[in-house]
Amino acid sequence: MARTYLIAGNWKMHTTPPEARTLATAIAEKHNSLKPPSSVQTLICPPYISIHAALEAVAGSGVHVGAQDCHFEPKGAFTGEIAPNMVKASGCSHVILGHSERRQYFGETNGLLNKKVRAALSEGLIPIYCVGETLTERQEEWTLAVVRTQLVDGLKDISLQNASNLVIAYEPVWAIGTGLAATAEQAQEVHAAIRGFLTEILGAVGAEMLILYGGSLKPDNADEILSKPDVNGGLIGGAALQADSFAAIIAAACKIAVS
Ligand code: 13P
Repeated sequence: MARTYLIAGNWKMHTTPPEARTLATAIAEKHNSLKPPSSVQTLICPPYISIHAALEAVAGSGVHVGAQDCHFEPKGAFTGEIAPNMVKASGCSHVILGHSERRQYFGETNGLLNKKVRAALSEGLIPIYCVGETLTERQEEWTLAVVRTQLVDGLKDISLQNASNLVIAYEPVWAIGTGLAATAEQAQEVHAAIRGFLTEILGAVGAEMLILYGGSLKPDNADEILSKPDVNGGLIGGAALQADSFAAIIAAACKIAVS
C-alpha cells in the first residue's frame, strides 16, 4: 500500500502578501513539475494577511493553504484574533495549533489548545496539533511523559469519525530553528509512542492518523527521517521559505511513497 505523506510549510512571521505570492507561485510550479501521487499532499501556511495572495497563487495546483493559529470562539470582542470559521471561509483547509512558539511566547496551555482544536474541528478545518519536549525535558528523560500529557489534555473529549480530520506534529523544541534535527531513530521512537497514545485516547482511528516531524527538517535529512515507518510527513520552517528546498523535501516524500 502506498504510504501517505503531508509536507507542510510553516512560514511563521515571514512574507508580505507580494512576497507570499512570489513564493507560493514558485512552490506551485515545482509541485506541478514533480507530479506528486495523490498520497503526497503539500500544504503552505503563510501569515493570515498573506493567505489570500498565497491561495490565488496556488489555485489549480493541488497545493493546500492553511493558517498558523486561530481563536476558539466563532466571533466576538477579541481584538486581533481570527475565528476558525473565518479561517475556513478564507479558503484554508488546515490550521496549525499549539506550535511551541505559541506555547512559549504566548502562554498557550493544553487546556486552551483543547478548546481551539475542538472549535477548528467543528468548523471542518484539519488541525495540525503540535507537541514536543524542551531540551531540559529530554535530558531529564521526560519526553514521552510530556508528549503524552500534551496529547491527553489537548485532545480531551474529541471524537473523530475519520483519521484524516486531525494531524499531529512532533516538534522537539530543541530542534526548531537550530539546525540540529532529531535523528531518524529519535523521531521514530517518539512517533511510535505518539501513535500508541493516540490509539489510547481516540481508539482505532488514532492509530491511522498522520504524524509529522518538525525541527530542522531539510533536503539532506528528509529522506532518512521520512523513511521511518511512523513518520508521515514534515512541518517545515526555514526550509519551507525557499521553493527549491521545500520542493526537495516534497520530492523525497514522493520517492518513498511510490517505492
Ligand atoms: P525549522 O524547520 O526552521 O526548524 O522550524 C520547524 C518548525 O517550527 C515548523 O513548525
